[in-house]
Amino acid sequence: MKILAIETSCDETAASVLVGEGDDIKILSNIVSSQIQLHATYGGVVPELAAREHVVNIIPVIDKALSEAGMSSETASSKLDVIAVTIGPGLITSLQVGVETAKVLSYIWKVPLVAVNHIEGHIYSNFIDVSPVLPALILTVSGGHTSLVMMSEHGKCKVIGETVDDAAGEAFDKAAKMMSLGYPGGPIVSKQAAIFQKTGQDSSIRLPRPMLYSKNNNFSFSGLKTALLYKIQKDTTWKERVPEYCYEFEQAIIDTLIYKTIKAAKANNINIIMLAGGVSANNRLRIQLKEMVRKQLPNAKLYIPDLKYTTDNAAMIAVAGYYKALRKEFTPWQILKTSCNLEL
Ligand code: KG4
Ligand code: ZN
Repeated sequence: MKILAIETSCDETAASVLVGEGDDIKILSNIVSSQIQLHATYGGVVPELAAREHVVNIIPVIDKALSEAGMSSETASSKLDVIAVTIGPGLITSLQVGVETAKVLSYIWKVPLVAVNHIEGHIYSNFIDVSPVLPALILTVSGGHTSLVMMSEHGKCKVIGETVDDAAGEAFDKAAKMMSLGYPGGPIVSKQAAIFQKTGQDSSIRLPRPMLYSKNNNFSFSGLKTALLYKIQKDTTWKERVPEYCYEFEQAIIDTLIYKTIKAAKANNINIIMLAGGVSANNRLRIQLKEMVRKQLPNAKLYIPDLKYTTDNAAMIAVAGYYKALRKEFTPWQILKTSCNLEL
């Protein structure tokens, strides 16, 4: 089965082509056009600008994805079996560009459509070069979402814990903004933290680990951000100590994410664990989660996506769409709609 996937839920215009047979999946192309430069000037994604950029980029990005996969707009209708598209969650005007484009292509090429949940897409970034067995527990950490998801079988996901306020990625972004470091915050805070880590010193700054010992599987990151704000407001030397603040802030997020994931895996007797979403690009999170799973859950297997599939891309949408297509979960173009608050 050959799938063209389209992803425009936030500020990346992306298209990918996948070929699959059973659990054997190959990504033939994975094109991402990032708008980071454009939004960096404003310190965050401006929805109106994002949508306008998607409109300009969507056809060239699809064209490139097709040609890298040995197809063209002329041959696509006979070579493609399915078009997969992200319908939500995300920015409504951004989502509309991808969804309306997918509908037009489905109408003209007479290729069936599958609607993909963006978060499910992130989870499926773990199924690209491997075929993990299920059930699995997935720590999903992105700019808009932070949750612990139990996946019992393909297409069956249940959220067993989530953030009660800010997402982990959002916390990184807000912390970076607070310290005037730029956008997106995650990679920038992480780079600063690495500068401090290289000194080999212990941090003398202490930030809270919110909800660490709460009885449920939920997270909270808004108080952590406020704690950082109060600390730097009281510290006249904070500008010289940015790497140390970043190091402690990053560690506070990592500690909470890992502790809650291990606890949930133990409580639910799960030994397949996955990491997903943009924050899964974080180097220290990747290293420390590996280490903790090895120590605390020696019989468990941990899946971490390849770096190029951590932040928004269409290859992950293609994989999620592939499994939906195998289950014949198609949506006719006449009724396909965006759903900006779509839940898992
Ligand atoms: O999944 P994603 O690309 O978009 C959403 O679906 O939200 O995630 C973007 C988020 C941003 O908040 C960004 O700051 C964060 O992922 N991020 C990181 C890193 N790279 C991206 N956070 C921490 N460390 C990173 N290396
Ligand atoms: Zn995402």
